[in-house]
Amino acid sequence: MRKNIAIDGPAGAGKSTIAKKVAKAVSAIYVDTGAMYRAMALHMIRNGIDPEDAAAISRQCQSADITIEYIDGEQAVILNGENVNAFLRREEVGNMASRSSVNPDVRAKLMELQRQLAARTDVVMDGRDIGTVVLPDARVKIYLTASVEVRAKRRFDELAAKGQPADYNTIFNEIRDRDYRDMHREIAPLKQAEDAVLVDTSDMTIDEVADRILEIYREKTGKA
Ligand code: DC
Repeated sequence: MRKNIAIDGPAGAGKSTIAKKVAKAVSAIYVDTGAMYRAMALHMIRNGIDPEDAAAISRQCQSADITIEYIDGEQAVILNGENVNAFLRREEVGNMASRSSVNPDVRAKLMELQRQLAARTDVVMDGRDIGTVVLPDARVKIYLTASVEVRAKRRFDELAAKGQPADYNTIFNEIRDRDYRDMHREIAPLKQAEDAVLVDTSDMTIDEVADRILEIYREKTGKA
């Protein structure tokens, strides 16, 4: 039986940083499902699709062939033969991803890919609906969160460190709006699975969070 770990939570809670560390510690593959939704969003942006036009998103989704490869241990998302990793972290792409991911055809297509990956090997998969919908049988489920203020501050600091100008209030509002959309959509909304363990990272360091998750993993799997 697979020892998959599902990590769900809102944007900016630190899911990917933590999931990467945990995957390394338990020798599993890290799967970033947000990056798949972002690749689909990039496909929509490139084709000039209106985020409010559900029929156009459903149609355009058919022409997106998305696969995952691992290059030097890092996940690369391949969109119609092109490695699009370099484009995925832009705010514009994240905002479109939050909109286009409400579409049932987009979700069905990406969920299939996510389940195939998890069936093949042990994974640490992060996203919004992993513990609730994609991998309901995951051995370990974590709901990772932090206050909106802390998440906006982290994002602001991250951009500042890269020398990119940013406005804290704009980031705060974007995160709050994204939370609302992710939590209130009809299909697979962001919510804590009944059997998930809540970890609030607002006052924790990255190492503390990773240690806490590994502790939960050991409790659930009986691994020393
Ligand atoms: O985790 P992220 O910021 O890269 O995700 C971008 C968007 O993709 C997010 O706002 C909602 C969507 N998403 C989703 O609907 N389901 C997932 N499993 C992962 C992401």
